[in-house]
Amino acid sequence: MTTLPPNLEEQLIALRQDAEQALAHLADTLTPTVALEQVEQLRVKYLGKKGQLAQVLGGMGKLAVGDRPRIGALANEVKEALQQALDQQRATLQTAQIQAQLAAETLDVTMPGVYAAQGRVHPLNSTIDQVLDIFMGLGYTVAQGPEMETDYYNFQALNFLPDHPARDMQDTLYLPDGNLLRTHTSNVQIRYMENNDPPVRIVAPGRCYRRDTVDATHSAVFHQVEILAVDEGLTFTDLKGTVKVFLEALFGEVPIRFRPSYFPFTEPSAEVDVQWKGRWLEVLGCGMVDPHVFKSVGYDPEIYTGFAAGFGVERLAMVLHQIDDIRRLYNSDLRFLRQF
Ligand code: DAH
Repeated sequence: MTTLPPNLEEQLIALRQDAEQALAHLADTLTPTVALEQVEQLRVKYLGKKGQLAQVLGGMGKLAVGDRPRIGALANEVKEALQQALDQQRATLQTAQIQAQLAAETLDVTMPGVYAAQGRVHPLNSTIDQVLDIFMGLGYTVAQGPEMETDYYNFQALNFLPDHPARDMQDTLYLPDGNLLRTHTSNVQIRYMENNDPPVRIVAPGRCYRRDTVDATHSAVFHQVEILAVDEGLTFTDLKGTVKVFLEALFGEVPIRFRPSYFPFTEPSAEVDVQWKGRWLEVLGCGMVDPHVFKSVGYDPEIYTGFAAGFGVERLAMVLHQIDDIRRLYNSDLRFLRQF
């Protein structure tokens, strides 16, 4: 019986001790993530293709045939033990890693929050919202049109003839290409009717522009809400009732008055005033849709009648909140805006 070169057996045992020691103390000083990388490096170092175990086994060929099974068995035992130790250490570290992550991401819901200044809806927008709400409740649909408009939609189709003096009250900014900034939301009437058949019930909010001298009740940029209803058999009574229901829904009990007026696109026409700071403030224009307007959109005025109105949003907000000057709505003074 040949004797085993003592160093091969010893080498295997030393290798195992070495590796187990290196593994055992990894978690002492390293974070789980770094230690996990080390585990992988140790695996390569001891069990890898060119690792220490492979090198030791390279010496097997020099063994006497009779010794090979015993050393082979020992080598297997060392390999399995190391594999197991590596797996175990890896599992432990992965758990530690998750624990560390959970601890780091813990949310303390009892901590005081971070202060964020609270915004609020501008009184003009909240007024528009209120108006839309009321008309949606009456079965109207919200419609919109462009602020940059052609002369046709802003004037001609609404029966403003080219040299009619009614244009003087609605002078505006004309753009180099011949377009203009719309002077009212009535353009939406034409655009909507061109694309939809009767019956019509629309409410259209939007911004408008005029060459107006700015004072307590006028602004060159302002907002309107337009309504339009077209059907068979609508009368002035329907218009008056609708306007009254609307103003009462918005203001509650407030004195209102209808005044005869003139608009090229309605016949008859009226303006409506509301009591504000001891005087009458005009808040809307309205009337029965002029047959010329129906003709320009291809509706038959022998079959259909309709009524329309345009509300000044700033004016409504001023009455609603007793605001003394329209300019307060635009100059972004927080002391003013925080009241709403
Ligand atoms: N567009 C008119 C203006 O800005 C207001 C107006 C009057 C709108 C009568 C209408 C209406 O729809 O029927 O002065």
